[in-house]
Order: sequence, then C-alpha cells, then structure tokens
Amino acid sequence: MVKQRITEVLRNGQPDESLVVQGWVRTKRELKGFAFIEVNDGSSLASLQVVINEDLPDYDSILKQINTGASVEIAGVLVASQGKGQRVELKANQVTVYGGADPDTYPLQKKRHSFEFLRSIGHLRSRTNSFGAVFRVRNACATAIHQFFQERGFLWIHTPIITANDCEGAGELFSVTSLDLKDVPRKETKAVDYSKDFFGKPTYLTVSGQLQAEVMATAFTNVYTFGPTFRAENSNTSRHLAEFWMVEPEMAFCDLKGDMDLAEAFLKHIFKYVMKTCAEDMEFFNQRIDNTVIATADNIINNEFERVTYTEAIKLLEKADVKFDYPVSWGLDLQSEHERYLAEHLFKKPTIVTNYPVQIKAFYMRLDDDEKTVAAMDILAPKIGEIIGGSQREERLEILERRILAQGMKPEDLWWYLDLRRFGTVPHAGFGLGFERLVQFMTGMGNIRDVIPFPRTPESAEF
Ligand code: 4AD
Ligand code: MG
Repeated sequence: MVKQRITEVLRNGQPDESLVVQGWVRTKRELKGFAFIEVNDGSSLASLQVVINEDLPDYDSILKQINTGASVEIAGVLVASQGKGQRVELKANQVTVYGGADPDTYPLQKKRHSFEFLRSIGHLRSRTNSFGAVFRVRNACATAIHQFFQERGFLWIHTPIITANDCEGAGELFSVTSLDLKDVPRKETKAVDYSKDFFGKPTYLTVSGQLQAEVMATAFTNVYTFGPTFRAENSNTSRHLAEFWMVEPEMAFCDLKGDMDLAEAFLKHIFKYVMKTCAEDMEFFNQRIDNTVIATADNIINNEFERVTYTEAIKLLEKADVKFDYPVSWGLDLQSEHERYLAEHLFKKPTIVTNYPVQIKAFYMRLDDDEKTVAAMDILAPKIGEIIGGSQREERLEILERRILAQGMKPEDLWWYLDLRRFGTVPHAGFGLGFERLVQFMTGMGNIRDVIPFPRTPESAEF
C-alpha cells in the first residue's frame, strides 16, 4: 500500500483508494460503535479525519492509546465523507501506535493556548495549527528567495559565521574564543593576550555577511548570501532576536536606484510566491491572527512602494499630528515609532527612505556629494518598521579610508576590503533583508520569537 502525505490525500485522494498515512493525533472523538481521530503530519493546516470502527481487532486498547499527541500509522481505504468540513476521510483497517501521549501530562490541549505559553514548550509548539502555518510559510519564503535570485543569475555564496570584523560597527558582537575563561592569558599591560587564542586574534560571530559578499561580487557580479547572523543587542522587543537569518544580495555595477528596484521586485516576488503556494495558511493568518494580511499582500504585489529621502521624511514627521517619544529633528536616527508612522499611517505601504545622515550610518555607505548624507536605503514595512537595510557602497579608496578612521576603526584591519577599491573598484550596492521580520510581516505574527523555530533572545536559549 502506498504511503502518502496528508496534504496529498486531502487534495487528490479518491474514494476506494487504499493508502497509509503517518502522523500525530490532534483530536479524538468517541461515539457509539466507532471513533473519529484527526491526524496531522505537518504537510498541511488541515488534518485527515480517520474513522475507526469497533470491529477493528483490539479496538478498545487502541482507542485508549490514541490520545492527542500520539504518533500513529493508519492503513485504510478512503471514503467520501458524510460530514461537512472534508471531502474524503480514511476508514482504518489497521492502526499502529508508535508512541502514546499521556493526556494528563501532554502539555498541548485542544483549547487555544497563548503564544507566551507555547514559547515555554518550544519543543512541542510546532505541532499546533499556528506554528505549523508559520513554518510552512517560512519555508515558502526561503524557497521564493532562492528562486528569485537563481532566475536572475545570482550566485549563492556562503559567508563565514566566525569573523574578525564588526561590519556594522555597532559593537553588538558575541565573542568566539577557545580561551579558558577561568584562566585568561594576559599581556604585561593586563590586556587579554589574544595571540594565545584559537585564531590568534579576537573573533566574533558575524553580524552580517556583507563584507565578504562584496569580495565575491567583485568576481561574480551578482551574488547573495543567506545565513544566520548574531547581534548581542540587549533589546527585548517583539522585533529583535540575538540570532536571526539575513538575506544579503550584492551587485557590482549597481547604484542606489538599482538596489531599490531589486529590493522592491524581490519583496513582490516573495509575496506572490507565498500567496500562491500557501493559500490555506495565509487564509488562516487572515482569520486568526491579523485580518489585514491578505490585503497587505495584495497591496505589496500590486502597488509601487513609496520612496522618500530622509530629509523629506523628517519634514513629514515634523508636520505629524502625533507626539513621538523621541522628538524629531534632522540627524535623528529614526525610531520604530517614526518608521511605523511613515509606512503604516501616512503612506499605508512599504516605504523606502533614502540618503540618511552620514553620522548615523555604517562606514561602508557611499558618501553623497553634499557630504552630509550617504547613499543608504531602508525599507519600512507597516506594523514592523525596518525590514530591509541597504546602500550603495563607498568604492573610492581615499574616502573609504577616511570614513573608517572617522568611526574609530583601523584601516589595516580591513586591508583586504580596501584592496577591493585598489584593484578593479566598481560602483556596487546591496541590501540585507531580516528574514524573520519578513515572515512576521507576511503572517501578521506579533512577536518575532514566534516565527523562528528556536528563538535566541536575552536570557533565553532553552531549546
Ligand atoms: O540594517 P542592517 O543592520 O544591515 C546590515 O546588516 C547590512 N550589512 C545589510 C547589507 O547591506 N548587506 O540589518 C539588515 C536587516 C534589518 O533591516 C532588519 O530587518 C534585520 O536585518 N535585523 C534584525 N532582525 C532581527 N533581529 C535583529 N536584532 C535584527 N537586526 C537587524
Ligand atoms: Mg539597518
């Protein structure tokens, strides 16, 4: 008999077909002479209804074992369903219980649990409808991302996780060391002697793959990296993780305009793909989590994003009829309240803000002619705020050296990065998409901890 995934059975299964399914029991309903169970194998939101008749050998003992959470294999025949809610159901001929789940101690009950509670059982929460839908949509987003770049001839490159550089210069680094923290080697000056450490110098978990992506872009023209990044910023918010995934394309022979055009086409592509391949899950989010997600997706797919300069954005914020916690003036680093005002309240769509003040942006961004701003662009999403951060890069050696020094960094530590400007330098640009913020935006999930299987946040790394 053929083994089938439940999504396949629900979509294409025909009456009289014999098949085997495997999965976990979601619910059990005992009636006179038979029982219904709902079995889910993670392949779709909907579960398969299985009918078990009392004439099945060992009926009573099987029924006792197949509680919510039990793992089962059912062999049977599909029949047209009498009840509403499903087209077909499986009439069981044979039921194998792999592992039971004691109803008195299994933490997932049929009732709705809060996301906070589910976070405390991170090893089981993926068995719920909400998390099933989130992780299928997350998978579809990742597939859409690779598809988008591969169709356009971008090379997928792999940038290191351990690095000696702080790409963003924000000092939010996790150290990587093999030194014995109980007996740290020290120099005469009492400073830590990193020459005794594994790499012979201080190293960290990367905050971004961009610097290495730039290396690869100056050989392959268009590249992207998609990997985990780490930031030790102690911000306990619904939009920050200490470990998150970032998608970073980098394009040679590209300016800020090309960068923005690519980013906009990129987001449109992902939304289109997910709406097509995860229709059932998106409908679920729209009904249960946030009744604007489908309208938002349509809006993204069908409308152009708003584009404003930072200077224009500041003027708009100064005119706003709301009182912000952080007062607005030129030079201010936009806070989430300002970002949301622009994207959610004013323009009601993704908004690209460009040309930020040089003081608040990273050293690698290209200095504008006025020397006050840089060729940066952030894409702000309604409800989320910044979802993409990108820029045209400084390709002029002298200016880049000046910027590195001005930020208190040492040009010699970045000698290889500066070499890219010495040998065959070229205008180039790229951006970074926060993958979890994208999944949040797509699904309407309020907390970023609920769109990554195993969130890492301050004081939390349990699972
Ligand atoms: O704006 P960021 O810091 O940009 C960079 O790292 C550049 N090197 C990217 C590039 O140009 N190649 O981060 C990019 C995005 C942000 O827009 C945000 O969506 C996300 O990464 N992000 C976070 N997501 C979750 N938790 C955090 N702590 C995040 N910090 C940034
Ligand atoms: Mg940023």
